[in-house]
Amino acid sequence: MSSFPVSENVRRMQSSATMAAMQAAEALRAAGVNVCDFGAGEPDFDTPENIKQAAAAAMHAGRTKYTSAGGIREIHRAIIDFYRREFGTEYQSSEVMATAGGKQAIFNAVVTLINPGDEVLIPKPYWVTFPEVVVFAGGTPVFIETEETDFVLTVDQVEKAITPRTKLIILNSPSNPSGRVLPPNDFRRILELTTERGIYVVSDECYLRFVYPPAEVFSAASLPAELRSRLCIAGSFSKTYAMTGWRVGYSLAPAEWTKAMLKVQGHSTSNTNSIAQWAAVEALTGPQESVATMLAEYTRRREWLLKELCEIPGMTCAQPEGAFYAFPNVRGLLKNRLKTSGEFAQRLLEEEHTVVTDGAGFGAEGYVRISYATSMEQIKEGVGRIRRLAEKISKS
Ligand SMILES: Cc1ncc(COP(=O)(O)O)c(C=O)c1O
Repeated sequence: MSSFPVSENVRRMQSSATMAAMQAAEALRAAGVNVCDFGAGEPDFDTPENIKQAAAAAMHAGRTKYTSAGGIREIHRAIIDFYRREFGTEYQSSEVMATAGGKQAIFNAVVTLINPGDEVLIPKPYWVTFPEVVVFAGGTPVFIETEETDFVLTVDQVEKAITPRTKLIILNSPSNPSGRVLPPNDFRRILELTTERGIYVVSDECYLRFVYPPAEVFSAASLPAELRSRLCIAGSFSKTYAMTGWRVGYSLAPAEWTKAMLKVQGHSTSNTNSIAQWAAVEALTGPQESVATMLAEYTRRREWLLKELCEIPGMTCAQPEGAFYAFPNVRGLLKNRLKTSGEFAQRLLEEEHTVVTDGAGFGAEGYVRISYATSMEQIKEGVGRIRRLAEKISKS
């Protein structure tokens, strides 16, 4: 047994369920098995060529040194201009910082705000990192059940969960894992409530650009200034520009909050990779066709996948309006010795060599997450395998 004295806060953190799914797929592949992998939380597209070239140019121009902790001026400008163009906002440089992925923006935002005993509202199902960052900061995650509203958070649900200790709520629309999108009006009503109660908001907008009509692309940045006084937006280049490995994200938050976040980042990771920052500037300011191409492909896959999943006996699936995940309910398949969605995912892995992520890791036992950020060919093969297992279970 290890005698390493892990700190109390880190001991309370859980390992990532999504990483576990990735490792399971990797182990099977290494053993030479033909795996259908629906576990990936990243685009299957390559980073667009213009972005790679901007990185190469930055490297050759010697832009390989430390930058200021919050990033180069050009990335601030590119982010501010993007939000002005898309949402009519007027952010200042003192309200922006570049981070090592959206994940670091969320981490910075939470640890600069939360004291032991503070409660943080996290709607279910949630991205696996949210509760763990809160625990790391010494806070208490308070989960909000949303299954009865098909995983779309309502202002009433938020209101019921608020206590005198509530300090922060973490929103994520489009959602990983459910793909659900908060309608703009509901978003606004939730921010009106949190503003009135003095509660801070982190809006994780990592999948901002991947929304399927009639749902609308919406950023909390477009809300009136009085509703943004306690708001931190966490954004990312990872999904939009297929740049997961580059590690660039950003936060947009009031200057005082940003200053505190800069302190944390300055003493931990410092600036995100200088070359990747220049690549990100090109991502935002260069041609945007790649985003539309990816969205069109996700749209095609989503349409096919959703129709097929709904026809599998024992499975039901709400329409995801954003991101690249389907989140079917598999409770209709839990019978005899199969009791949990985790056991279903395990059987799928063992008998059909197909990886899905157990919904329990996202706080939604009874569901599994299927990522369609994989080729149509893989999707067709994988869905056939899921159907085969479902039919076997139904007949047993
Ligand atoms: C909901 C959500 N937020 C944030 C992130 C962080 O992404 P990154 O740190 O690569 O920007 C992810 C990645 O999977 C995510 O799914």
